[in-house]
Amino acid sequence: MNPAESMVPPRPTALVQEILRPLIRVADLVIDATAGNGHDTLFLAECVGETGRVLAFDVQQAALESAALRVGPLVSRVEFFLESHVAIATRAAPASVAVVMFNLGYLPGEDHDLTTEATETVAALNAAAAVLKGGGVLSIICYPGHPAGALEAAAVEAWVAMRTAEGWRAARYGGIGTRRPAPFLLLLVKAATA
Ligand SMILES: C[S@@+](CC[C@H](N)C(=O)[O-])C[C@H]1O[C@@H](n2cnc3c(N)ncnc32)[C@H](O)[C@@H]1O
Repeated sequence: MNPAESMVPPRPTALVQEILRPLIRVADLVIDATAGNGHDTLFLAECVGETGRVLAFDVQQAALESAALRVGPLVSRVEFFLESHVAIATRAAPASVAVVMFNLGYLPGEDHDLTTEATETVAALNAAAAVLKGGGVLSIICYPGHPAGALEAAAVEAWVAMRTAEGWRAARYGGIGTRRPAPFLLLLVKAATA
């Protein structure tokens, strides 16, 4: 296969880490809003170093166990919360967090009913916006390829449009012309004065 074919469209899960890696500093406080199997939790734990802290949320005990296993010896940098990401604002102070990552949808191979849901996701995004510092980064991966995911993606994009009206910067990365709507990554930078 032409190597370019495996890069385009980019896999949002790989792309987001590539973009965020140089932006996260040692000792940062960061959040994985959807820990799942812990790929992003591990990535964040590596980036923040020994003095940083990762708060990781998931509603499934099995997900948090899987994430803790993946994080392995870096687990001392991570605090796991078996609760909805709506609770983010009860676990971090306002304007204290450098990066919040959301990877929406369900855990591959697990119960597809345990998926993120539009109304709760928007509430969690509001909570994430409150705890982010000015200049902090919010990443959201949406999966519009199935009906509930499409509804959720539309709600998220509407939420993002409101943030850009308040001075946040935002970008969208994803494939076009695919058989089913392709997953896409939204990246936002919180306005310094928001
Ligand atoms: C696509 S998976 C995340 C994958 C994960 N980032 C990884 O690296 O493996 C989405 C996760 O969101 C979780 N989830 C669903 N609703 C949630 C909620 N309200 N709060 C927090 N997590 C939720 C699911 O249990 C699932 O594990």
